[in-house]
Amino acid sequence: MRCLVTGGAGFIGSLTAERLLERGDEVIVLDDLSTGHREVVPTGATLIEASVGDQAAVRALLADLAPDACIHFAGLIAAGESMSEPGRYFEANVGESLALLEELIRAGVDQVVFSSSAAVYGEPLGTPMSEDHQTIPTSVYGATKLQVEHALEWMSRQGALRYAALRYFNAAGGSEGHREDHAVETHLIPLALSALAGQRPALQIFGTDYPTPDGTCIRDYIHVEDLAAAHLAALDHLAAGGASLVANLGTGHGYSVREVLSAIETVVGRPVPAEEAPRRPGDPAELVASSARAHEVLGWTPTRSSLGDIIADAWQAFSA
Ligand code: UFG
Repeated sequence: MRCLVTGGAGFIGSLTAERLLERGDEVIVLDDLSTGHREVVPTGATLIEASVGDQAAVRALLADLAPDACIHFAGLIAAGESMSEPGRYFEANVGESLALLEELIRAGVDQVVFSSSAAVYGEPLGTPMSEDHQTIPTSVYGATKLQVEHALEWMSRQGALRYAALRYFNAAGGSEGHREDHAVETHLIPLALSALAGQRPALQIFGTDYPTPDGTCIRDYIHVEDLAAAHLAALDHLAAGGASLVANLGTGHGYSVREVLSAIETVVGRPVPAEEAPRRPGDPAELVASSARAHEVLGWTPTRSSLGDIIADAWQAFSA
């Protein structure tokens, strides 16, 4: 199979591109390198340096390279930032995605795997959350992901394409040559590791009075290797003629901020310098996925997502 991977210079996209190449697929990476890194695009992939919204560039690459399917990772990912720059987020995540989808359909590329997010749900009514949970996003970021899901759903209903929208919970971990490396870092594990390495001030624990056993927020952390495997399974599902699908990607098990910090101390052997801080606005107390659907439909089961494995692999990639 020949697969177009947008955002293939990012954390999850580059690892997925590498795993596709390893199993013998051909990979075309489309990335404007605005947040991605050229050096993580795997050897063997063809890199087209353009934005997904550049319809002339996309049209030319589709005509020249004729991919069979597309995994669309590219986009802006910071929920907090999206609240102060809504226009930029709608343009990048919705406007550019629609431009890409239009070109894919025009070229007859009718299988699309889309990076969606647990952020589409908004405030959880309970845990674990299934795909049928109401979708009332509390961030612009979540709203942009939901709008693209809606567009895909309508395109699919009209028979223009089939898609898998994968709603990631907390992407984490790392792999050789692949670590979370965002210019503006907001994620717990990379921030904790860099505080531990003395590259940042003490980690702030955002809120210690949540209605959880230790008072800190609970999240469902999923290893980037397991995310990559889910994308390959979703591609195979579509290639085999499978129906369009929306699926959560998580483990069904949540860990609190304090549990993450103590797992880091166990793995690294030193405590993370940390201080208690007020709640971060918009953080729900607990977000845990039901991934039954991904298991049933895609045959996907996480294998690297114990907290210990996630931290060990994130630390190894961080310190490499
Ligand atoms: N946290 C801290 N201190 C920090 C950073 C984070 O205590 O310095 C806490 C947060 O309050 C939260 C937990 O660690 O309870 C995880 O925070 P992250 O920022 O790593 O991740 P989020 O759960 O906020 O965000 C993730 C994805 C988003 C997505 C969101 C909703 O990264 O893209 O889930 O599903 F929008």
